[in-house]
Amino acid sequence: MAQRIEASGSIALKDGRTVTVRNLSEHDRSALATFGLSLPKNDLLYLEDDFTHPEIIARLANASYAENWRQIVAATDSGEIVGYTAALRMPGWSNHVANIRLIVQPSYRRSGLGMHLAQAIVDAARDLGATKVTVDMLAALTAGQAIFSRLGFAVEGQLARHAIDRDGNLHDIVIMSAFVRV
Ligand SMILES: CC(C)(COP(=O)(O)OP(=O)(O)OC[C@H]1O[C@@H](n2cnc3c(N)ncnc32)[C@H](O)[C@@H]1OP(=O)(O)O)[C@@H](O)C(=O)NCCC(=O)NCCS
Repeated sequence: MAQRIEASGSIALKDGRTVTVRNLSEHDRSALATFGLSLPKNDLLYLEDDFTHPEIIARLANASYAENWRQIVAATDSGEIVGYTAALRMPGWSNHVANIRLIVQPSYRRSGLGMHLAQAIVDAARDLGATKVTVDMLAALTAGQAIFSRLGFAVEGQLARHAIDRDGNLHDIVIMSAFVRV
């Protein structure tokens, strides 16, 4: 895996813009709601969590101190959230495994932010005590697969018609994973 990235700090993107990458706080509720509403319909169709739903946003913001959950955001100087990533440590016999989510606002894509957040959340998963990290995404989402491949993740499996989008269409899911050293 690539070198460790601090979960908090200012980073310069490839296009010259700067964002602050830090842990999600309980005060981010309204900024996170605005972020959710800024995502294009296509992304919303495919996201596991409904970022436009106030109850989901409240649950994420309230979980900022949860023991088995790490959530990291990228925010602009004006406080706008432009990227979100999370690692959730699984219960039971998979409690050494953390599952990752990652999404970047379209106007901030292709500037290296997704890659930065992905590395930061893998580090956060390791801090949670996870020794294996997984990410599942629609097979059609090749950008996400490119990022996690670069970080050393391999495709572990594919589940046929395993996700249903908000329009009722079925999609295959790809599961990628990597083992991390504590
Ligand atoms: C996946 C996602 C987070 C990438 O964010 P990003 O900020 O654009 O990523 P980066 O700029 O760091 O890109 C890193 C690399 O990924 C690959 N990549 C990113 N977007 C790509 C695209 N649209 N097509 C092909 N490759 C792509 C490239 O190899 C890129 O490196 P390069 O720009 O040097 O060529 C963003 O597209 C997104 O939010 N998608 C919707 C949600 C999702 O699919 N999440 C992943 C699964 S949880």
